[in-house]
Amino acid sequence: MPTKDLVTKVWIEPGCIVCDACETTAPTVFEVTDDTCIIRPAALNAEFTKPITQSIIDAAEECPVDVIKFDVAPVEVSEEQAAAMEAAAAAPKPAAVEHAAPATAAAPPAAKAAPTAVPGKTAEPATATAKTAPHAPVSVAGASDPAIAALLRAASSRGGNVMIQKRDESQGMSADAMKRTDPRELPADARQAMLLEAAKKAKDEGMTRRAFMSGAALGIGWVAFGVGTGVAVGPAFGRFMMPNVLEEPDPKVRVGKIQKYLEMQPGEVNEDYKPQGIWIIREEDRIAALSIICTHLGCIPNWLPNDRKFKCPCHGSGYKPNGINFEGPTPRPLERFNVNVEDGIVIVDKSKKYQWELGQWDQPGSFIQT
Ligand code: FES
Repeated sequence: MPTKDLVTKVWIEPGCIVCDACETTAPTVFEVTDDTCIIRPAALNAEFTKPITQSIIDAAEECPVDVIKFDVAPVEVSEEQAAAMEAAAAAPKPAAVEHAAPATAAAPPAAKAAPTAVPGKTAEPATATAKTAPHAPVSVAGASDPAIAALLRAASSRGGNVMIQKRDESQGMSADAMKRTDPRELPADARQAMLLEAAKKAKDEGMTRRAFMSGAALGIGWVAFGVGTGVAVGPAFGRFMMPNVLEEPDPKVRVGKIQKYLEMQPGEVNEDYKPQGIWIIREEDRIAALSIICTHLGCIPNWLPNDRKFKCPCHGSGYKPNGINFEGPTPRPLERFNVNVEDGIVIVDKSKKYQWELGQWDQPGSFIQT
């Protein structure tokens, strides 16, 4: 059974500049939020990333700040995958992979020396970025084994099966095609998508509402259509069209009566305010508010009551009920928020944080004495 080098793990290091490049290249793997990029939950699974190895490598290469990291490992390919690879190898090769290493390129030593791996396992994973180990798996697979290059090409999110299926199901028409089409002939969701996209672009570019309304972002016909028909354009478009107002959420969160938390047992965790980014924890002599952000790379851990720990689904960091880290790659405990009591109500101020490694967990305001 052939062995191929495929991406088994992908993650984001701090420093994302929210440029959207990775989501454009590999939308099934990366999601760019307002202030960072995250790995979509499905892409935390090696079985998901292996077939889209190429798009992950592309995204890493294109990342201007090199924050996309990935592990590659030699993986045995099933008969079914081999058949798919052969079929893909026989298909015309798109220009999108012309950056793959030439057939004579030497494979990286790590890949050459790696033993045959158990499917789904990482055998001495070679952590890489496109800059430090450019196209490591591609140069090996794409050069010495055209079949795996075909698999990567076929499964690439830039033109392969993943995106073809996705397009069939949900996109139907390219953005360019939509722009060339009379808005009255498009389905309602396509019209809405176009207007939302234009609003986002205009906002990103600092375009004024006046300029937007003149058609600079989308085209005069489109704007006339959107406004003239009163099409429902969703909150993002609506927000763009509204007067500018400051929408900073209040960092102070009222989390209920102190009595509720006094009745908790030491080691107990209250998750009622997790949607607001807060866990309330009970210790022997105090109540504290933990931030739910993993101190490794910013994912959101889960509280596992049976295991008495917080467990991060991204890279496996684990924290005790008091927030102290004890397993996985995270270098430090969860952070704590400022807490105090006003008129019997516990108030968490998320604008003030306390870090254990800085000796701040005993500072006034980092806990409520019980
Ligand atoms: Fe990596 Fe949580 S983000 S372990």
